[in-house]
Amino acid sequence: MYTKSISFHLKKSSLLAMLFVLACSTPGDQHNESESFLEQHRPQFHFTPDSMWMNDPNGLVFYDGEYHLFYQHNPGKNVWGPMHWGHAVSEDMIHWEHLPIALYPDSLGTIFSGSAVIDWNNSSGLKEGDHPPMIAIFTHHNMEVEQSGLDTFQYQSIAYSNDKGRSWKKYFGNPVLGNPGIRDFRDPKVIWHDKVQKWIMVLAAYDRVFFYSSPNLTNWTWESEFGLNVGAHGGAWECPELMPLEFDGDEKWILLVSVATDGPNGGSGTQYFVGDFDGSSFSNENPGKDAMWLDYGRDNYAGVTFSNMAEGDGRRILIGWMSNWEYAQVVPTERWRNAMTIPRELYLDLNADHYELFCRPIGELDLLRKDSFEIEPAVIAGKMDLREGEKYESSMYEINLEFTIPGGTQNGKASEFGFMLSNSLDEQLTVGYSTSDELVYIDRTISGKDGFSEQFPGIHKAPFALSTTESIVMKAYIDKASIELFINDGQRAMTEIFFPNEDYDKISLFAHNGSVTVESGIVYKLNPIH
Ligand code: FRU
Repeated sequence: MYTKSISFHLKKSSLLAMLFVLACSTPGDQHNESESFLEQHRPQFHFTPDSMWMNDPNGLVFYDGEYHLFYQHNPGKNVWGPMHWGHAVSEDMIHWEHLPIALYPDSLGTIFSGSAVIDWNNSSGLKEGDHPPMIAIFTHHNMEVEQSGLDTFQYQSIAYSNDKGRSWKKYFGNPVLGNPGIRDFRDPKVIWHDKVQKWIMVLAAYDRVFFYSSPNLTNWTWESEFGLNVGAHGGAWECPELMPLEFDGDEKWILLVSVATDGPNGGSGTQYFVGDFDGSSFSNENPGKDAMWLDYGRDNYAGVTFSNMAEGDGRRILIGWMSNWEYAQVVPTERWRNAMTIPRELYLDLNADHYELFCRPIGELDLLRKDSFEIEPAVIAGKMDLREGEKYESSMYEINLEFTIPGGTQNGKASEFGFMLSNSLDEQLTVGYSTSDELVYIDRTISGKDGFSEQFPGIHKAPFALSTTESIVMKAYIDKASIELFINDGQRAMTEIFFPNEDYDKISLFAHNGSVTVESGIVYKLNPIH
């Protein structure tokens, strides 16, 4: 099983491998995408690296008509190793152009996760030419210091680009924030805070987060900490993000924190806190509450949002890494490993006396829609194949289904209902709602290949009570080897990966022990992005 302390402890041989990669991989080392993007299990409308290993999204930033996606990348192997920042750009967050690696390891270490901002006022003084500099703030991970037994091997550095992210220089004064003696001290996410007119950094510091402020991105002052004894704490906190969100004119501050081993269904997961941030410290509105989760599936981790969104676009858009550290390094793919989630818009909603954070797929995804078919209203009892006898040529779909449960809580209602994806090998993925247990679930116990990890198969659940409605709308994006499920406009989200030996080419609806009505439904076949 993967554990951070073991994997981050790279051996000398890995160092040699890293030097080899540095020598061999030159910018411009590009492959013919369309040929290599057709392997079995390769997602067709999700971002994947052309080859080799990928984990967290980094430095999501919009600038001059382009969305930038940087990512944790080991260009030399299909497992985690010496980290670089891979790079891609897009005009719509859906279709991506692969660019050469942006940040390479250097004498201070390998390049761990971080963020990117546009320094509009040139507060850093790093502007050269006419454009404001794009600044990446990241963690340097120094393996030699780690191997020497010291705890101070992670510290924060910056790099800057004055040509729209095409070329990068490391700042001469790196690191800009040294290590105070904490082993896990990483993943800076930086925002400009209007009220205090300073840059604010939130940083994971072992079992909590630290906040720092800076006038110029190069000198940082410690402000406060948050997190001790609240929320989920299985393993180090990672990839935090602080952001404002409005609800009915009310501004709230959200703190996202990924946690490596205590997710809602085991392994990696992303929790959030709602509260206030006064420019210096974060106060949590729900100190007594259990951890609140952004996504209940097993495969959405280390998600962060874009900075510097276009003028007039008030959306907060998150992309996550679609895997789980429990098995990410052994999933059955060779040429490349792992994908990003689809982009999702975050929004707040009030649930009785407290705010909750939800996410819905961004509208740009509609660009992928090809032909569609509608599902006529029907009462389902047992199993009903959609378009019986017809095979779907590829498993890339957007499925939309609205169910109502007859008689509310009375007899006759199904104990479970939902839909299934399957193939001729009887491999199947089941997505359901349990009326008796009041939860949404994804069952991947017989979904296909799963021998690579004992942690992989399972039925994963998200509590979801239907107190105010008897209707459930399920929206799901399926892309060869993944499902992203959004219930009632994202009030519950579940993201899961799977590896069928043959593509799923059948969709069925089901209701067990009673009935349910499907009021309406539409399935879109989706286009690939390559
Ligand atoms: C999260 C993480 C980060 C770290 C990076 C290393 O998945 O562990 O905390 O910066 O991955 O690749």
